[in-house]
Amino acid sequence: MEREAWAVSVAEKIKKKYPEIVRRNKGKIPYSAVNGTFDDLTNQSIGWWTNGFYGGMLWQLYHATGDQEYREAAQELEDKLDAVLMDYNSMDHDSGFRFLTTAVADFRITGKETSKNRGLLAAANLAGRFNPQGNFIRAWNDENGNNAGWAIIDCMMNLPLLYWASDITKDDRFYHVAVRHANTAMKYFIRENGSARHIVEFDSKSGDFIQDFGGQGYEKGSSWTRGQAWALYGFILSYIYTGDINYLDTARRVATYFISNIPDNGLIPVDFCQPADCTLEDSCASAIAASGLILLAQVLSGQKELAGGHKNPFTQTASEEAGKAENAAFKLLMALDENRCSWGSDRDELLEKCTAAFHDEKHEFPIIYGDYYFIEAIFRLTGEELFIW
Ligand code: GLY
Repeated sequence: MEREAWAVSVAEKIKKKYPEIVRRNKGKIPYSAVNGTFDDLTNQSIGWWTNGFYGGMLWQLYHATGDQEYREAAQELEDKLDAVLMDYNSMDHDSGFRFLTTAVADFRITGKETSKNRGLLAAANLAGRFNPQGNFIRAWNDENGNNAGWAIIDCMMNLPLLYWASDITKDDRFYHVAVRHANTAMKYFIRENGSARHIVEFDSKSGDFIQDFGGQGYEKGSSWTRGQAWALYGFILSYIYTGDINYLDTARRVATYFISNIPDNGLIPVDFCQPADCTLEDSCASAIAASGLILLAQVLSGQKELAGGHKNPFTQTASEEAGKAENAAFKLLMALDENRCSWGSDRDELLEKCTAAFHDEKHEFPIIYGDYYFIEAIFRLTGEELFIW
């Protein structure tokens, strides 16, 4: 089958899988699925960083099908996240993951004022996490201040909340915070070979670099694959919003590193540096990287407009580099479709073998953001995507 026809056929499988699943899981905020049934974090952990992704899936499905049931379910989930906005300790740097996928997506589609207000409150909180001495956004909360100087590569995906807020309010503070953080990330997180560190610790008083940690990857100095995917995708996004070619060049370097490490079978390990006899996989990393690679290919072939009046300098002629990025994305998505997707409506999850962190006790289980990014990537290929970031 031609690749384009394959993508359309997978989009059809997505549209077929979800109506029944969304109906029987009404009111839930899933993180994972147990024995084929979504769990529900509503009353367990409303502040968990992944709580926007099911909402994001629902908005993608609504955008692609026009089915009101998806929109209603997405808005119900969005309402519940007001509890997060009211809890200081729940409001960490992952506000982009929580609110771009929910309130901001709603605002983009419906123009609803309540949703805009939620997005702006989240953006103001995110900007308030900026440490002006070290030029970084603090990642997590800790009442003793032990991680006051910690920043993580994942935050690159949260910066679009600031770019959005800047555009909506015409207040450039949000933009400046995003750019300063992105510059710090470019300098301290990206290694010579194009791989990315997960956690970097700065001195929160002087702003000086102290050390880096392996974080959710195998060890210090290793290459946690989801972190590589966040870096690759996050730097393209900062390029789209700023037109700063340094961000695009960074995304290209990370993409080259990622592509050169894709195993022959197209299935992604938890860490590119994990021991050779370790077979642990992270399907989420694969889906995120695929979606980012498609976006990179679209930018490099002039198919994606930049934001804020910046002109995409790339022409319509497909470059060799864009072709490589697109080929890699197809390889990842086709491997997931063939080997790691549950296509029946009898199981709530889509992707199998997702891993939250290398050193967790539990590995290779369904995780909601894997499903989100797989759907986003497919709809990006078929032109049915709602651009969430
Ligand atoms: N952003 C946290 C993670 O990727 O696990």
